[in-house]
Amino acid sequence: MTSRNTILVTGATGNVGRRVTDRLLATGAVAVRALTRRAADAGLPGGVDVRQGDLADRAALESASEGVDAVFLMWPFHGAEPAGAVVDAVARHARRVVLLSSGAVRDGLAPERQPHPVGRSHAAVEQLVARSGLSWTRLRPSAFAANTLWWADQIRGGDVVRGAYGAAPMALLHEADIAEVAVRALTEDGHDGATYTLTGPEVLTQAEQVRVMADVLGRPLRWQELSHASARERLLADGGFPDAFVDPLLDGYAELLDAPRPALTDTVEKVTGAPARTFRAWVRDHRADFS
Ligand SMILES: NC(=O)c1ccc[n+]([C@@H]2O[C@H](COP(=O)([O-])OP(=O)(O)OC[C@H]3O[C@@H](n4cnc5c(N)ncnc54)[C@H](OP(=O)(O)O)[C@@H]3O)[C@@H](O)[C@H]2O)c1
Repeated sequence: MTSRNTILVTGATGNVGRRVTDRLLATGAVAVRALTRRAADAGLPGGVDVRQGDLADRAALESASEGVDAVFLMWPFHGAEPAGAVVDAVARHARRVVLLSSGAVRDGLAPERQPHPVGRSHAAVEQLVARSGLSWTRLRPSAFAANTLWWADQIRGGDVVRGAYGAAPMALLHEADIAEVAVRALTEDGHDGATYTLTGPEVLTQAEQVRVMADVLGRPLRWQELSHASARERLLADGGFPDAFVDPLLDGYAELLDAPRPALTDTVEKVTGAPARTFRAWVRDHRADFS
């Protein structure tokens, strides 16, 4: 890619998008544009061309996409309804897209046959992107280590982390690794048509995650098991947690108990040259979020 191409980052204030934005800026080789619904307080670094707008607002997206070469596309919606218009708008301007999809997507199944609701919407967006004529790279990450930020209030307030399915195993991923893969795919050749299944380097149950946090934070933290119903009630009462995501999340955890342990991939290392970061490293990087 020639220097000073422009890359549009959607979801630029999110866990992954913020890292993508920072890493792209750090390359010094591209101009970075960001789309956010809250341009005034997005807290993005100077040097980013910040554009106000909703991804589903066609005029805003068209305007933000003008003159861009590549787009980092994250899908913030629970369904796929606006995806056709979004992908069309991107395809009219850019030649390359890196899609933040999900490890919940099952290969070889049409979107409507995907077993998990999260997989259903991401598979639909993947399909539209594949048919758009854009060069594309799909990232299918496993569960984000950043999901443990949902426990931050509990940890700030005491030593007990309450939740359901403490034995559910996950291969948590550091958002920095997802972003690093995304930046490679946005700025280097050789990633077109690739579907990258990304995982962290280890499998930890939720209860084990709390033990790692206790160790790193130097706190006597412990997991307390809640029933599905109590955890559901708790999450629904949490104003910061999207209600539409409560059942898919808890049902997904329940399924993890019976499923084979998550398979690990070395895709992060293959693409970036460095092994995926551990959950311990993630907690160290986020110490301040829990104190
Ligand atoms: N969490 C997981 O374990 C996991 C695992 C696999 C895949 N994923 C996928 O990763 C994505 C989430 O990424 P993330 O954690 O980096 O995001 P995040 O931290 O949840 O942040 C959400 C981002 O979406 C933006 N956004 C929300 N609604 C928007 C709208 N209508 N128009 C434009 N922007 C909008 C927000 O921007 P503003 O508020 O600034 O507008 C913010 O930057 C989802 O697609 C999820 O399915 C997550």
